[in-house]
Amino acid sequence: MRHLMSPLDFTTEELEKLFCLANDIENNKAKYAHACDGKIMATCFYEPSTRTRLSFESAMIRLGGQVIGFSDAGSSSAAKGESVSDTIRVISGYADICAMRHPKEGAPMVAMEKSLIPVINAGDGGHQHPTQTLTDLLTIRSLKGTLSGFTIGLCGDLKFGRTVHSLINALVRYDNINFIFISPDELKIPDYIIEMLKNKNIPYEEVNSLDEVMPQLDLLYMTRVQKERFFNEEDYVRLKNYYILDTEKMQLAKPDMLVLHPLPRVNEISVEVDNDPRAAYFKQAEYGVYVRMALILTLLELA
Ligand code: CP
Repeated sequence: MRHLMSPLDFTTEELEKLFCLANDIENNKAKYAHACDGKIMATCFYEPSTRTRLSFESAMIRLGGQVIGFSDAGSSSAAKGESVSDTIRVISGYADICAMRHPKEGAPMVAMEKSLIPVINAGDGGHQHPTQTLTDLLTIRSLKGTLSGFTIGLCGDLKFGRTVHSLINALVRYDNINFIFISPDELKIPDYIIEMLKNKNIPYEEVNSLDEVMPQLDLLYMTRVQKERFFNEEDYVRLKNYYILDTEKMQLAKPDMLVLHPLPRVNEISVEVDNDPRAAYFKQAEYGVYVRMALILTLLELA
């Protein structure tokens, strides 16, 4: 039985197979409409979500399966003190596969150890968000035609941003990727990631100014400053509007640069940028359904 805790759980060859399947699903939806007939997915979300939970549910329903779950820890027996381990043992008798989001780092891994069904980490605290990474990789591969040979700027909250940490870990396995980390000093990329890049001799730069590096970028991955990860309101208020991508900044970018964002956004991308053909974040959210359909089929050994 396979689970998904980190994007590194799949080899690059396995990811390639997954992305080919996701593209086939996108182009031949009817072919997969009954692939999960009779199967049930449990979505156990102890933390808020729109895209991840609903795209998992949409994915399972589009495959012909059904969905059970909760979207709030307060409406589950976690509110009465039930452990994640006990919850997953029980859910193993109710469903065939489980997607779990939890505010505590490592909680889906604890669940995996006791689970009798495949568990998917749907985001654990500031740690990992592997299915967002699969979504990001599929988007880049589909819209750029490759996962190698580009300069990617990651901008915003690089300290707490689990999507950023997961994506960097996944991209270092591809050739000729140059990273530019754009953040205020307080939200810099963690040291362990810098150490990993140094050990692998992967080029990176840490800067404060988005304007300065904009012309170099093939991809710009914007992130939200996450209010829920701050310990005090004052720091959040000071940093929340540090970067705002607007049409003026977009004029500095290459004509084929893509703007990605895991969403939700708050103020970091002006709505006027949505009309720019380089704004790929809504298409990215749609790819999230196809890649999760491919993942469900793979983990249930139905692909
Ligand atoms: N990208 C993402 O994880 O969005 P949600 O928090 O809405 O699931």
